[in-house]
Amino acid sequence: MKILTVIGARPQFIKASVVSRAIQQADGIEEIMLHTGQHFDANMSDIFFNQLNIPRPHIQLDIHGGSHGEMTGRMLAEIEQALLTHKPDRVLVYGDTNSTLAGALAAAKLHIPVAHVEAGLRSFNMQMPEEINRILTDQISDLLFCPTDTAVQNLNNEGFAKKPVQVLQVGDVMQDSALLFAEKAVAPAGSLPDGFILATLHRAENTDNPQRLAAIVSALNTLHKTVSPVVLPLHPRTRKLIAQHGLELNLHLIDPVGYFEMVWLLDHCNLVLTDSGGVQKEAFFFGKACVTMRDQTEWVELIEVGANELVGADTAKIIEAATRNVGRKVQDINNMYGGGKAAQRIVNVLLNS
Ligand code: UD1
Ligand code: UDP
Repeated sequence: MKILTVIGARPQFIKASVVSRAIQQADGIEEIMLHTGQHFDANMSDIFFNQLNIPRPHIQLDIHGGSHGEMTGRMLAEIEQALLTHKPDRVLVYGDTNSTLAGALAAAKLHIPVAHVEAGLRSFNMQMPEEINRILTDQISDLLFCPTDTAVQNLNNEGFAKKPVQVLQVGDVMQDSALLFAEKAVAPAGSLPDGFILATLHRAENTDNPQRLAAIVSALNTLHKTVSPVVLPLHPRTRKLIAQHGLELNLHLIDPVGYFEMVWLLDHCNLVLTDSGGVQKEAFFFGKACVTMRDQTEWVELIEVGANELVGADTAKIIEAATRNVGRKVQDINNMYGGGKAAQRIVNVLLNS
């Protein structure tokens, strides 16, 4: 069986690394890796291929920037060509980026079956580009690998139980990655303050809205000055928009780091403050409380067990919740994310599909 995997953005490299590894260990399955080029800086792309031992992409597109329509459209055309050339039996996509949707759509239009890892997640906020991408991708997939019971329920609510597709709860591949690579943790270069808050910030809903961005920057600066040092590996999108809006971050700013450095930061921080999807769960995997600077989350079970708190982009709420949660430990008692077996489950299903 020949599978063509479409990846392009940072979290997809981390998710694909564990599935790719399981594919390599299986008999009878060949993987062709296509990198759309959506993320392209060395510390947003190459570093993950090197650290996580991901096979070099067989097909490397160089598509990034531009509007959503332009980026997705260019990817669609070029992925279609790659599919016509390589004739895979199935296409595998991850998550909810423009690369995800372009890969799924190119395949579906050629009647190539699509497997979606991280199916069924919903924020119910159609303003988010990710929500559009994931809903459309689910609609044209026939193997829907859900990370949580909630994701399965979301698909049931949308009528998937009556469709000729497979909806499977396999657990979360990001827990596989966290468990597999935790022992590789390495401190980022340069000195770091003790007892820091680990922050990440990049989602369009925050960075593209000047009021929300200013409110978050103000909260991070105040926390750094008055509560606990804030370490922020800054996403290139955010770096640009902060400069564009004349804002200033007065905290411990570092460049985006590799996964081994990120795992170290997660292990050594005293709180996670983020708008990332993946980092919310990683906080939990590393036993740290999380404060999420968004209005909704797809990972609702973390809210339900009290491990994560939603504070939107409200300066006072961010400061209050972060101050209250600094140093608080959380524990995974319900094994909500599958315990590190998601990749193997996915490959077992692929082999029998
Ligand atoms: C994308 C995903 C988002 C995901 C995030 C993970 C979409 C719509 N969004 O958002 O869901 O959470 O990836 O990080 O697919 N840039 C660089 N160098 C890079 C990558 C990006 O300079 O290596 C800059 C470019 O100016 C680019 C901007 O960041 O225009 C935004 O990149 P883009 O891939 O469009 O969206 P992300 O914000 O990264
Ligand atoms: N990450 C990383 N280096 C960083 C910031 C994040 O390796 O400097 C990892 C993080 O540990 C997680 C993934 O990138 O595994 C999350 O990606 P991101 O926050 O960019 O996207 P999202 O999950 O919000 O789609």
